[in-house]
Amino acid sequence: MSDRTLLLAGNWKMNHDHLEAISSVQKLAWALEDAKLDESRCEVVVIPPFTDIRSVQTLIQGDKLWLGYGAQDVSQHEPGAHTGEIAASFLSRLGCTYVVIGHSERRANNHETDEIVAAKIKAAVSADLTPILCVGESLDQRQEKTHVDFTLRQLEESLAGLGAEALDGLVIAYEPVWAIGTGETATAADAAEMASAIRAHLGEKYGPGLAEATRIIYGGSVNTDNVAEIVASADVDGALVGGASLNGPDFAALCKAAVAK
Ligand code: 13P
Repeated sequence: MSDRTLLLAGNWKMNHDHLEAISSVQKLAWALEDAKLDESRCEVVVIPPFTDIRSVQTLIQGDKLWLGYGAQDVSQHEPGAHTGEIAASFLSRLGCTYVVIGHSERRANNHETDEIVAAKIKAAVSADLTPILCVGESLDQRQEKTHVDFTLRQLEESLAGLGAEALDGLVIAYEPVWAIGTGETATAADAAEMASAIRAHLGEKYGPGLAEATRIIYGGSVNTDNVAEIVASADVDGALVGGASLNGPDFAALCKAAVAK
């Protein structure tokens, strides 16, 4: 077994306003307490919309809850004239640990290129945030069997210009686009194949230390029933969960199933 701590991160996407967020986090915390997870083996994180983060921070810090939190995106720019953007330093100030960068929904709907993703990673790292970099292929690429090449190229370009020292702590989320929100999950073997290809790539580019330390997680229709099998692979260090993270007790059950790894 590796020394990497299992990461279970709930990406709420554009769900839950700040009042619903408070209730969801409270219920998640209670259910996790009941589940008696081995806290040394895993880390549970919520990733709410921007407008919820202050409320989530107040609750988690005020009640000293065993939960991390982060944001779903970040601006590549320094604070200034960028209407509608959120600076990395603002997220740090709110106590965020993580920030999701390059989610396929943003790549597709907001035209985020690998170049923009790389700039966002730089901005996050300079504000001491830990990026959760999302990569993954489309259905066509999987059917053409170019999924590994495509995903590794996307990874390489999303990390362009960053040295190993900047990538310390980085999390990579392998999220095949065809498995997101579709109920269609990659098999445990698919997830394992890509995670080990990503780890080998990190080893070649940045050396064995970074490859061994980097957490590679899987996302795409993960639920309580399939999570244990997915994280059973030595190279898969957790899950980025969408729909199944919205209900606190259900997400706690999923975390419990994962920790049985
Ligand atoms: P679902 O778990 O709803 O498929 O979403 C996955 C995802 O995109 C997490 O970032």
